[in-house]
Amino acid sequence: MQNSDLFAKCFKFTTVHEIIAAGVYPYFKKTESGQGPEIIVEGEKKIVICSNNYLGLASHPKVKEASVEAVRKYGTSCTGSRFLNGTIDLHEKVEKKFAKFVGKEAAVLFTTGHHANLGAITSLVGKNEIVITDKLDHASIIDGCHLALGEMVRFRHNDMADLERQLQKYEHTPKLIVVDGVFSMEGDIANLPEIVKLARRYEARIMVDEAHSLGVLGETGRGTGEHFGLQHEVDIVMATASKSLASIGGFIASREEVVHYIKHLSRSLIFTASLPPACVAAIDASLDIIEKDKELIAKLWHNTKKMKEGFEAIGFNTRTSQSPIIPLTVGEDMKAFKMWRMLYDEGVFASPVVSPAVPEGQAIIRTSYMASHTDEQLDFVLDKFEKVGKQLGIIPGGTRKIKPTVQEKKWKFSFTSMKMNSSLKSWFKNLWNSNK
Ligand SMILES: Cc1ncc(COP(=O)(O)O)c(C=O)c1O
Repeated sequence: MQNSDLFAKCFKFTTVHEIIAAGVYPYFKKTESGQGPEIIVEGEKKIVICSNNYLGLASHPKVKEASVEAVRKYGTSCTGSRFLNGTIDLHEKVEKKFAKFVGKEAAVLFTTGHHANLGAITSLVGKNEIVITDKLDHASIIDGCHLALGEMVRFRHNDMADLERQLQKYEHTPKLIVVDGVFSMEGDIANLPEIVKLARRYEARIMVDEAHSLGVLGETGRGTGEHFGLQHEVDIVMATASKSLASIGGFIASREEVVHYIKHLSRSLIFTASLPPACVAAIDASLDIIEKDKELIAKLWHNTKKMKEGFEAIGFNTRTSQSPIIPLTVGEDMKAFKMWRMLYDEGVFASPVVSPAVPEGQAIIRTSYMASHTDEQLDFVLDKFEKVGKQLGIIPGGTRKIKPTVQEKKWKFSFTSMKMNSSLKSWFKNLWNSNK
């Protein structure tokens, strides 16, 4: 008989407790310091290589000062929606600045990037209309598609023949193609030149999520469009402020009429409070710094190149990475958790990513770099990866057979016998696929 208590499933959800007890739980770790390349976690210094603070601006003195100034002038909150009482002059100032930055007529600022994707997709893709997404698009895009009244169609990751097949099927239906500029797990870049060709052939509109490409791709950091010299071919630029822009918030930039429409039909803009002044001011200051300081992007790419070449030289598979996001293939899911823990104990803070976020048996350690990492910090990281990678038999030169280490016994856990149990798998599956 079905348990009638709605909470029954919560009481039975012990999966995460088992991983915590085993000592390999990598999530919700609390940092006790600012957002630099070195952070303090559990009282110890770690070099962080899983941050999205690509240009290191989250701790830039000018950005911090701008935030503090905004609090002095406007207070801590706008206490309402953009639609009603929650718009201040700073919101409109950064909207104009962002639109100009990405070469569009207008922009609207949402409270997060997640809200921006929900708002744009749900307001644009109505009944009898289609949204076409890459299978590796970010969860916030997928959530927007699930909420939209139109139908979602997916194509295989960066597979242009598959995209064309989908476009052919819906030739006479209004459609929007939505892709990540840089894919958040694999670190590869959307094939924008082909997408543009196909979109024009089949009369589709293009939206590019520049979360991981703004401040990163293109000579001046304007993103995927600039990278390919196709800025004017992208119909809608979406970007989050939570990465290179050292704040929080989400932009949608496009033609004046399109932004006006989205602004007046987005439930995720209208029915939530607006971005607080301190966050808006941080975006404003970050955009100014990116415009002026070209060295930051050059330094980010210096670090990216050093790490990609460094990992490959010691035998890691960096997959299809073309950006500061460098995933390293580890193998089985549990091996990724183990490697995460071993790196953590060595003073390196990275992220394990397991199936279904990546194909079964191809779990990764996802790493990402900042302009503010020093060569010494990056050499330290490479040394630790070499050591741990060899111990786990992921790269040549180590013991292929994984024996439980003294440390592992302390974690009350044997990876040699441990398989990813089914409840753990279903937790990840539901999270990743948003229960659909
Ligand atoms: C590709 C992509 N799009 C959108 C988002 C959502 O942005 P935000 O953190 O501002 O909600 C993220 C954040 O992780 C992302 O990686």
